[in-house]
Amino acid sequence: MTSHHNYIKKVNFASKPSAKELTFMDNLCFDSAWSEKDYLEMKRGSFFNGWLLEISEKHFVGILVFNIVFQELEILRLGIHPNWRKKGFAELMLDHLELLSRKKNLSSIFLEVHFSNFPALSLYRKKGFQEIGRRKNYFQTPKGDAILLKKLL
Ligand SMILES: CC(C)(COP(=O)(O)OP(=O)(O)OC[C@H]1O[C@@H](n2cnc3c(N)ncnc32)[C@H](O)[C@@H]1OP(=O)(O)O)[C@@H](O)C(=O)NCCC(=O)NCCS
Repeated sequence: MTSHHNYIKKVNFASKPSAKELTFMDNLCFDSAWSEKDYLEMKRGSFFNGWLLEISEKHFVGILVFNIVFQELEILRLGIHPNWRKKGFAELMLDHLELLSRKKNLSSIFLEVHFSNFPALSLYRKKGFQEIGRRKNYFQTPKGDAILLKKLL
């Protein structure tokens, strides 16, 4: 972690949060949020993983949702609570995710980002993701193209 949050003594990844906890964080982090019903359905899938980033007992600051399908990991959600942004937490989550992916011998991590989401695009570029394509009008709210990003491991 970077020096400006040395005051945080320990961080923890809650790797089996409930659908309710995931929904709660999702709603705080995203403008267009997923419902508890969405999470309950997704949690039934065998590829599903959901993590919450916890900085003290039950104080959640981030959410990371992904699927692992064969050799590839797809990030579905990565969000940090608005009050806790620009402190390196998204990078911390991605570093941890990459570590896990390497341990599992996965070949790549990929995701789709809204073309106008500059913080996210900048984050993923910093972490070594490359643009591999575009999907026209992929997103509905807000409308716009998706940029496909991938990092080979
Ligand atoms: C994108 C998001 C996850 C970044 O989280 P964060 O914890 O604030 O990011 P970090 O502090 O780890 O920043 C790491 C890098 O990301 C980029 N970044 C983060 N916020 C940025 C911003 N507001 N503007 C430009 N670049 C930004 C920078 O490259 C930064 O590196 P730097 O500090 O050396 O400049 C956060 O803004 C967020 O939750 N946004 C809403 C949800 C979302 O859009 N998620 C992505 C779609 S999957």
